[in-house]
Amino acid sequence: MENYNMERKSPFSEVKMSERGAYYIETFGCQMNVRDSETAAGLLETLGFSSASEKENADVILFNTCCVRDHAEKRVFGNIGAMKELKDAKPNLILGVFGCMMQQPEVAQKLYKRFPFVDIVFGTNLLSRLPAFVESAEHGSRTLAIEENNIQIEDDLPSIRTGMINAFVNINYGCDNFCTYCIVPYVRGRERSRDPKAIVEEVKKLVAEGYSEITLLGQNVNSYGKDLSDATFAKLLQLVSGVEGLKRIRFMTSHPKDLSDEMIEAMATLPNVCHHVHLPMQSGSNEILSRMNRKYTRERYLEIVRKLRNAMDDVEITTDIIVGFPGETEEDFSQTLDLVDQVGFASAFTFKYSPRMGTRAATMEDQVSEATKRERLHRLNELQEKKSRENNEKYVDRVGIVHVEDCDMRGDPVCYGKCSNFKMVYFAGSPDLIGQYIPVRMEKVRKNSLYGTQEDQPL
Ligand code: SAH
Ligand code: SF4
Ligand code: F3S
Repeated sequence: MENYNMERKSPFSEVKMSERGAYYIETFGCQMNVRDSETAAGLLETLGFSSASEKENADVILFNTCCVRDHAEKRVFGNIGAMKELKDAKPNLILGVFGCMMQQPEVAQKLYKRFPFVDIVFGTNLLSRLPAFVESAEHGSRTLAIEENNIQIEDDLPSIRTGMINAFVNINYGCDNFCTYCIVPYVRGRERSRDPKAIVEEVKKLVAEGYSEITLLGQNVNSYGKDLSDATFAKLLQLVSGVEGLKRIRFMTSHPKDLSDEMIEAMATLPNVCHHVHLPMQSGSNEILSRMNRKYTRERYLEIVRKLRNAMDDVEITTDIIVGFPGETEEDFSQTLDLVDQVGFASAFTFKYSPRMGTRAATMEDQVSEATKRERLHRLNELQEKKSRENNEKYVDRVGIVHVEDCDMRGDPVCYGKCSNFKMVYFAGSPDLIGQYIPVRMEKVRKNSLYGTQEDQPL
């Protein structure tokens, strides 16, 4: 399944030789970072660099970092430390670290000092200055640059897209919600919506390049337009939906507090908007939701789920859940289990609460012990696995239209891709089906996916 907040390998794999050299980008974190790495790649290619398939062949290596949880941070430090050997062997190698983690001045400074072989360190807001940073590294200067204020959104930076069949399109940047556990508003700045015209233009360009599916990206897509004069997410969906040739529109992430009836209506009526909502619930306890500053209750959450399902009988809902938030009692946690049981999510990303320096929750009393967090996560995952299986079983003997992402050629070729509602389906097929929309009858349930047979000719 396409993952949210998972560390990823650089997908920029094509090897071309160029005058200036080759680059490799390793991306940690969420889709925002994946999208930023596409821009970093575009900027480097404008300078004359080309992509390398392996770090070992690269002349510029960049790490795009995440700091949403402790785990993400540790991995970044480990990965950068491991670069020393390569740098010793190849002194002209340019090493850079950017992204959310480097937007925190004290962390950026610590990294800059601890790893003197790193040439470039800059915060996520300064991405457009990457070419200048690389050029000064070529002249032997180190850079440490953190801009605390938000900079202007630059819409037209070059980029190299990595999705084979789906392209990411930013619609709003930053976040104003300040959930008490979350570092994102501090490192991504205040919420800023892109001009709807610029979004539609970008989508048109992507369709002209051959993409028929896009994902609109924002930390909270539902609050899109609140800083513009006459724009809402529902209206944006309408505008984007009208782009000729666009078959599927996805979006993430939806914050429950801003999910409007108009948005549900737009989803249900516009033919190319996918019937999937990633709707992080975080907790099932009203007390914890309030301490998290989420601004909705479990009752409101259930009401939204009901409305979505009334409007679209095939809609699927996925979620994010945190266990062990400060003060979470066994009773609070049982409310989370109960809500998971009632909703029946197609899948869930589940996390142990990880204190982030500078956030309100980090200094709250009643921090939950690691052992309790681990034990609760285990119980939650067991329940969700059962619910995911049940959810998949509903689809056996139904036909879904699969947008084929790729084909696994180890052994007998197996194609895979998603239905509109995000169900992942595998079936025997050949690589020429990649990019096509194929009707597949689902026959068997696998752990997190379904397995079926192609029904008919491609649509
Ligand atoms: N904007 C999205 C989420 C962005 S972060 C939203 O509001 O839903 C992705 C997920 O990481 C969150 O939904 C949350 O479940 C998890 N997360 C964020 N901060 C965390 C922390 N300090 N500890 C554990 N999980 C966290
Ligand atoms: Fe973080 Fe909350 Fe903003 Fe999501 S909505 S990015 S969880 S502060
Ligand atoms: Fe995303 Fe991690 Fe930044 S989750 S916004 S890359 S802190």
